[in-house]
Amino acid sequence: MRRPLIIGNWKMNKTASEAAALIRDLRERVPASPNADVVLAPPFTALESARNALGPSSWISLAAQNLHWETHGAFTGEVSASMLRDLDCRYVIVGHSERRTLFGERDENIQKKVRAALMHGLSPILCVGESLAEREAGRTESVVTAQLNGSLAGLTTQDLATVTIAYEPIWAIGTGRAATTEQAVTVHRSIRLFMETGWDSQTASAIRILYGGSVTPQNIESLLASDAIDGALVGGACLDPDSFATIIGAAQTRRA
Ligand code: PGA
Repeated sequence: MRRPLIIGNWKMNKTASEAAALIRDLRERVPASPNADVVLAPPFTALESARNALGPSSWISLAAQNLHWETHGAFTGEVSASMLRDLDCRYVIVGHSERRTLFGERDENIQKKVRAALMHGLSPILCVGESLAEREAGRTESVVTAQLNGSLAGLTTQDLATVTIAYEPIWAIGTGRAATTEQAVTVHRSIRLFMETGWDSQTASAIRILYGGSVTPQNIESLLASDAIDGALVGGACLDPDSFATIIGAAQTRRA
């Protein structure tokens, strides 16, 4: 069975000192548990203080929110996979819809980022999702499939063993209007089918597919009630330690 995974995407929030305080508050509220994986994605500038606040061999892991595909060089303002590894990041979010819509990221570059992450031992969390107009035009599945194809084409089953997919409908992000469990499950099933067709059934059944978009303490249980949903990528609600602790708790006690 796939282990639930809860990721807190802090986006452009929290200074380095605020990060340490938030992690202290969170750790007071959440017991360590082998039943779910928990990952925090602070901004680059807070990764080091987050690592120090978590302490050595913490059961909570770190992710970065982005990376550049080159290892080093004249790329002003960019950060490479090896720099993130050096700060003990285990994961990296790639292709978040805010990167795609606000910063013009395309599948072609997202694919390079996925490959760079894998090459340096970082587990990519690949975000996909449709806009409201695309959903209303009945194009959800084709949009998501094209994003997956554009970002994952050519990867081996071994590569995919450390990839996580986050289905994040753009209309649900930061709007308070989460997808229903049924809407999410439909897309998650089509993603798994795509993985099975493109690779094999073992890869398709092993890959974790998270839901993201207005996840809250109120809707997490309903989302996790479906075994098609392996966890959540949480934005707004992860900045409040009580809310995020409740969301983590729901994953930790799933099917307990
Ligand atoms: P949200 O963000 O939970 O605030 O909707 C989710 C995300 O963008 O990953």
